[in-house]
Amino acid sequence: MERGPEESRGVTELAEKARKEISGLVEDLKQPQKTQLWKSVFRVKHERSDTRNRSLGVLSNVFLHLHPARINRDAVRYSYTWGMGGISFYLFLVLTFTGVMLMFYYHPTKVQAFRDVLYLEHDVPFGKLLRNMHRWAAHLMIITVWLHMFRVVLTGSYKKPREFNWCVGVILLVLTLLLSFTGYLLPDDQLGFWAVTVGTNMARATPLLGSEGPFGPELGMTPFNDVRFALLGGSIVDANALLRAYIWHCLAIPIIAAVFMGVHFWRVRKDGGISGPAPVVLESEMKVEHSR
Ligand code: HEM
Repeated sequence: MERGPEESRGVTELAEKARKEISGLVEDLKQPQKTQLWKSVFRVKHERSDTRNRSLGVLSNVFLHLHPARINRDAVRYSYTWGMGGISFYLFLVLTFTGVMLMFYYHPTKVQAFRDVLYLEHDVPFGKLLRNMHRWAAHLMIITVWLHMFRVVLTGSYKKPREFNWCVGVILLVLTLLLSFTGYLLPDDQLGFWAVTVGTNMARATPLLGSEGPFGPELGMTPFNDVRFALLGGSIVDANALLRAYIWHCLAIPIIAAVFMGVHFWRVRKDGGISGPAPVVLESEMKVEHSR
């Protein structure tokens, strides 16, 4: 069938329009940063030479803004921080992930707890690896948190204005130790049983709150209402103690620790970033200092 002149012009126009659209798409592929899609994701131009734009680029990105836009290069040197705070946090994340995985297999009951551990060790695919990742990360975290505290002492970073963050750190240290201690009972083996027996017996001697502690008896503390009783959910290490350790270990302490970590990191920023080594005074500057 023959096309009329009107119809042929329409077809040509359509073909021309399609050609323009396709060449537009090809151009977009060559320079994606000019497309509207790109601009809707990255709202600031990234130009290396422009420091203001580079800072804005960091601040307008939800992930990058967690870090400061500018930092003191010397303060984040590994030789200064040892990276121990960061590694402690990383280990906490590993522990949370592997801990949730372990929860899929573990029941906090006298009948099942130890059997679940044996099942994990011998039958669950990669169960032994999972359990050992959790165990080793826990041991390592205790070491890294101590080392982190040690470097904070060595660099004097507990001093003004960081006193408050030091105190938050002390709470984090206690929470880390408590996480380890409550996890100890969970396999319900002899090691854990006796460790928790000894640990909670010490709680008897707590001042005011223990039945054998200073001023405890005067305040009406007995083996059946003191702090040890509250920890164990009874007067012996048994099923209730296992359940309580499980809830403290998997729920309460990790949540409290996560909140305190949030405060800790926020305070590092608010206190002016990581303290940083003492500023280097050049010989020429020293002369100026002396002549003043
Ligand atoms: C779960 C335990 C902890 C985590 C995850 C943690 C994490 C961090 C991180 C990531 C930093 C940034 C600098 C760095 O990495 O060194 C930091 C700084 C700091 N931490 Fe911790 N920390 C923990 C425990 C502690 C403890 C036990 C203390 C002391 C008792 C402490 C006191 C401080 C102080 C004072 C700073 C500021 C240091 C500076 O400005 O140079 N933290 N922490």
